[in-house]
Amino acid sequence: MCGIVGYTGPHQAAPILLEGLKKLEYRGYDSAGVAVNESGGIHMEKSAGMIRNLCKKTADGAVFHGCAGIGHTRWATHGAPTDENAHPHVSNDGRFAVIHNGIIENYLPLREELQARGFVFKSETDTEVIVNLLELYYDGDFKQAVLKTISRLEGSYAIGAICADQPDRVFAARQFSPLILGLGIGENFLASDVTALVAYTKNVIYLDDGELAELSPEHVTVYDCTGHPIQKKISRVTWDVEAAAKGGFEHFMLKEIIEQPRALKATIDPRIKNGRVVLDDFHLTDEDLKGLQKIYITACGSAFYAGQVGKYVLEQLTRVPVETDIASELRYRNPIIDEHTLMIVISQSGETADTIAALKEAKQRGARTLAICNVVGSTIARLADTVLYTWAGPEIAVATTKGYTTQVAILDLLAVYLARRLGRIDEAEEARLVGEIQKIPQQIQRAIDLNPGLEDIARAYHDNSDMFFIGRNLDYAVCLESSLKLKEISYIHSEACAAGELKHGPIALIEPGRLVIAIACQERLFEKTCSNIKEVKARGAEVLGVAMEGNAAILAEADKAIYVPRCDPLFSPVSAIVPMQLFAYYVAKENGCDIDKPKNLAKSVTVE
Ligand code: F6R
Repeated sequence: MCGIVGYTGPHQAAPILLEGLKKLEYRGYDSAGVAVNESGGIHMEKSAGMIRNLCKKTADGAVFHGCAGIGHTRWATHGAPTDENAHPHVSNDGRFAVIHNGIIENYLPLREELQARGFVFKSETDTEVIVNLLELYYDGDFKQAVLKTISRLEGSYAIGAICADQPDRVFAARQFSPLILGLGIGENFLASDVTALVAYTKNVIYLDDGELAELSPEHVTVYDCTGHPIQKKISRVTWDVEAAAKGGFEHFMLKEIIEQPRALKATIDPRIKNGRVVLDDFHLTDEDLKGLQKIYITACGSAFYAGQVGKYVLEQLTRVPVETDIASELRYRNPIIDEHTLMIVISQSGETADTIAALKEAKQRGARTLAICNVVGSTIARLADTVLYTWAGPEIAVATTKGYTTQVAILDLLAVYLARRLGRIDEAEEARLVGEIQKIPQQIQRAIDLNPGLEDIARAYHDNSDMFFIGRNLDYAVCLESSLKLKEISYIHSEACAAGELKHGPIALIEPGRLVIAIACQERLFEKTCSNIKEVKARGAEVLGVAMEGNAAILAEADKAIYVPRCDPLFSPVSAIVPMQLFAYYVAKENGCDIDKPKNLAKSVTVE
């Protein structure tokens, strides 16, 4: 979604802003712009389409001379992705420029009010009301104008603003949309995402809702919503620049698939000591656990599908009922959640608007909350009672891969941990399960090595217009994620179907040549899935079987096979998804798709 950068310091601002915007490209956008304070006025350029259009228009920023400015990548919500609707927006008197992420819910009455006062609007955006409110409330004090402006706004925002009268100042304000201040030496930065900052500084301040900040080259001051200065903690970012670079791979997605063994090791190993799962950050007491009646899992997209795997594993090991719900549904359906509920929220970015809202809803109803999150200091990580971080490193490709597998691994660890604390498994069983989880990183590597023919398989099927994924139990959970992965990056329609459900409807769509991918790693259900394979074969489908290594029987049923290393079936989803990620990747590559930045998608969905 939209990205924000800001800079004030001794250097020309625009090249730094453009570099920062390029780091945020992965979030998804459709126009971009920068505005810089110079010669007592505001110099602005913006452009629909890619950042390279903006770079071309501005000679990579060289046409700007000022040393303080703001930049933005926009993902259209109010109005089409045009030059006019791109940010920054400038006030009628040309004194202020503003960039904004989020949605101003009361922008229509504000716009009418400003129009009645004679303000003219040049775009269809909600953002333009912010910049004209600044003009309305300005009496020579930039900070007071920002305070008065934000007191009028309803909805969500992360704002960056500059004023021609104060050439080295950048103001920032946050409400329900992430914003981070980067602290340099003699220069300071602003961004919606740490990836835009790590090349310049590792010292950051995470703004909280209702706060604003004033940046000059030498100082950063954070204020509460009444304008009083407040002390904020300075955090250190652990990601480095290389971790957010392609490292020789053609796409970030391929790099992130291949680095999964390392990401899983970083997530699993520190949580295992002497054959036991140790979750130092888990704060529920034995008393709390005794009263635990239900586990709830909520998330969006792939994170929700990780939660679907978690449901099977948690129920199997803890025998506590687990309910799963999509975050955007949970928040509007009066869910049965109380102090006896453990609410698990899963989010790679930690900034997904619906997941944040569901987490707040659960807290309000008294649930204990646990977040599984990849981004340190993100909103979800800070809101939940307990955070278990997935140490996957920065995930740049829009389609998640290592984010998903590390989430599943945390759920596996949590299931074993809770099962032991609830007395459902003994020490020997815990040690056995832990041994199995410790093998996951090498199993993922084997899942990659076992299937060198995946690119050829993808080439054989890339022009199928519809594909189906079928499986049972945990294999069905893997189907859900496999199908999402394929459709989002290759734009091929696909459906995941519990294999037993086929004959209740979806089988009507099976016709000669249709590709069905049958995931059959749960061997106790192998025969059942094989009978579903027979049903689709009888109707002319081509079948690609996914089975455990050494299972020759799959080739008696399917046309082609993909193998997954043999492991405890409870933990097979983490390695079974890997060839499916690669299959989706190679199909998308064959179809010439923009793999890292699929159309219409954004990495971090910060609006409802
Ligand atoms: C799919 C994908 C999305 C995200 C979803 C939630 O590949 O990446 O479906 O999983 O938007 O995002 P997070 O995990 O950041 O809350």
